[in-house]
This record gives sequence, C-alpha cells and structure tokens, in this order.
Amino acid sequence: MSRISDRIRYVGVNDDEKSLFEGVWPLPFGISYNSYLVVDKKIALIDTIDEGFEKEYLEKIKGEIGSRVIDYLVINHMEPDHTSLLSLMLDIYPGILIVASERAVPMLKGYYGLTDDDVLVVRDRDHISLGSCDLTFHMTPMVHWPETMVTWMNAEKTLFSGDAFGSFGALKHGISDSAFKCECGFPHGKDDAFSMYMDEMTRYYSNIVGKYGNAVQSALKKIALLEIKRICSAHGPVWEKQIDEVIGLYDRMSRNEAEPGVCLVFGSMYGNTAEAARSLADELAVAGVPVAVHNLNVENISGALRDLYRYSTLVVGSPTYNGGIFPPVEAFMHAVSARMVRHRSFFAFGSYSWAAASVRHLNEMASKAGFTLLNEGISFPHAYSREKCNMKAIAEIIRANISENS
Ligand code: FEO
Repeated sequence: MSRISDRIRYVGVNDDEKSLFEGVWPLPFGISYNSYLVVDKKIALIDTIDEGFEKEYLEKIKGEIGSRVIDYLVINHMEPDHTSLLSLMLDIYPGILIVASERAVPMLKGYYGLTDDDVLVVRDRDHISLGSCDLTFHMTPMVHWPETMVTWMNAEKTLFSGDAFGSFGALKHGISDSAFKCECGFPHGKDDAFSMYMDEMTRYYSNIVGKYGNAVQSALKKIALLEIKRICSAHGPVWEKQIDEVIGLYDRMSRNEAEPGVCLVFGSMYGNTAEAARSLADELAVAGVPVAVHNLNVENISGALRDLYRYSTLVVGSPTYNGGIFPPVEAFMHAVSARMVRHRSFFAFGSYSWAAASVRHLNEMASKAGFTLLNEGISFPHAYSREKCNMKAIAEIIRANISENS
C-alpha cells in the first residue's frame, strides 16, 4: 500500500541484500530507502533512493503519476543512499527543478555535475507551492550532514525528516506504524514490530547520527514549533501513531539521557577476560541490574554502541595486548570517544600475562571521554579465578552507583 494520503505516496524500496550499511553497520532486518511523492497541481518528489533499485523505483513512480511529470525534486540530505538516482530522475524528467539547501550545492556539483541553474536554493522557512499545498523548508545542519534540511507540509501536518527519526529495518510490517502487521521472519505482532523498530532506531542513531547530539537538539527545538501529525523519514516506518515516543527517544538520546543499567563490552584472547565478563554479568543479574553483554570477538561494535546510548554504565573488558588494549575493544573505545557521549559511569577489567596495561589505557580513554570512573578497575594476571576478580563486589558497587543516580 503506497498511498499515505490522497496527496502523499510512498515510492521507497526495501533493501534485503546489503549486509553492511555505509560498509560498516550490520543490517539483520534489512533497510528501507524511503522516497515520497507529493501529488498536487504540481508534483514534488522528496529524496530519491540508493542505486540498484532503478526498475522498481520507476515502476512505482509511474504507477502513481502515469505520464505526468515531476516538477520538483527536494533533496533533504545529500548522502548517496538518498541521492543516487538523482541523475536518472533528471534524464527522465529533464524539466525537474532540484530544491536544496545552499550547503548542498557544492555536493550536487561534485557528486552529480549539476550547475547553479539546476538548483533552486532554499533557506530557512522558504516555501514552494504545489497548488493546494505548500512545502516549507527548515535547515537542520548536521542531522546528519551539514547540508541537511527537513521539509514541512503544513496542509497535512507532515514532516519529511530525512535521516532524523529513521531506523534500520526494511518495511515488512507495512509502511506506517498505524498499519503494522506481522510477516514471517520478523517479530510477530504490532507491539513487537514497534519495539524492533525502536531498537533499530536507537542503533541507527548511535551508529550514524549520535556524534551530532547538539545539532539534533537544535533541530528538535525548531520542529517543536510544528504541530506534527505524521513523520515521513528517509529510513524505516512512517510514524503516525507513536510520534511522541519517537521524538521522545531522539530527545533523550541527544541529551545523553540513559536508562539504569549496564552495557558490558569485552574482547578476549584466550578466554580469561571472557570468563571475568560472564562472572560480572551473572552477578549484575543477581543484583537486579539490567545488563546487555557484547562480545567483540564475534560481534560488530554496532550493537554495543546502541546499548552505550541506552544504559547509564559502560563496563569494558580487555586483555593487555602489545602493551595496550585488545584491538577490537580499542576500536570500540575510539568509536565511543568520537560520539562524545556524556554522563556515563565506567568500569574496566582485563587479564594480562606479564605487564598490566589495558585497564590503565581504558581508564585514560574513558576519563578523556568525560566518563566517571567507578574505581581503578581490575587487572588480573593469567587465568581468571573468583579469588582474583571479586565480581560480586564490583556488581554491588555498580548497583549502588546506579541506585544513587536514579
Ligand atoms: Fe540515510 Fe545520512 O543517510
């Protein structure tokens, strides 16, 4: 069902083939590239999609508008997952006018060879009329690139939000959250679908947009003036029912607000740091502390970053490796630092063979990131044992800290 309303039509596609988004982030549930037509006396296309789906995309567009032409192509965001079919659209609709922010212009020239004459540059609150309705543009730089803007259709209280409020996860439950239904291979039931997309929105935000929390806060303040009844983002469902929940999640994540709990991330060479991690996870569970465990020997850092944003305490385990941190764990810590997450408590542990270094380096990185160290951490030599690592005591320190700050 592509008809979101009489005037708004969904012409996006699902990508179930790609395994890594941006070449980095896993896609266990696929991803959608959303594109919308606003059909009025004039027709606007909001964003395009990634390459590889040309035939399906054109069929969808033709199915909606037949032989009519598209007057405007609104570029909310220049990243190629939304602009890859721009040249194709120009070939098919040579009279189309590209509508974009000033900061998009050099990118339109660089990526697609456009000239100034091809682009209608819009600034904050500029609008275009399609006949019975207007589209108004609001600049939202750095959500997620500097040229980013959102498009407001006041006649239907609809926000075309680009990456903002987007999620991983192909649209297998229906296009809009007002019509979620289950399909084989996905979590069943509309509540499960909602929670899957909220998880995938958290992962999308933490992996891709999270570094720009201040910019997200500025954008949220701007759109707070709008009476939003529908969010059409560039990835994931159209939000019509759970708008407050979706905006609330973005607000909490961009303010670094977290739930009480632990994101426990570790890597291990010969299993000793892994045993310490399992022991601590068990003790946290006994103490009633929510804990999400991520083993970087077998996992991409994507899920660990999601839970860094979700939980108030980050616990990291690494053996000493070449006088430093085990490489997958070090990569995770660099990703943490780059996101400038604030207001997290931190604890480190890890094994060593002849010189303890990993915990010291982890603590230095966490301190530089502005985290609060719960104590100096635990470095233990050689094999893991309960005597060397009193994880029951550590779990109690973490529980007490969470309780104090909740
Ligand atoms: Fe969906 Fe920033 O691209």
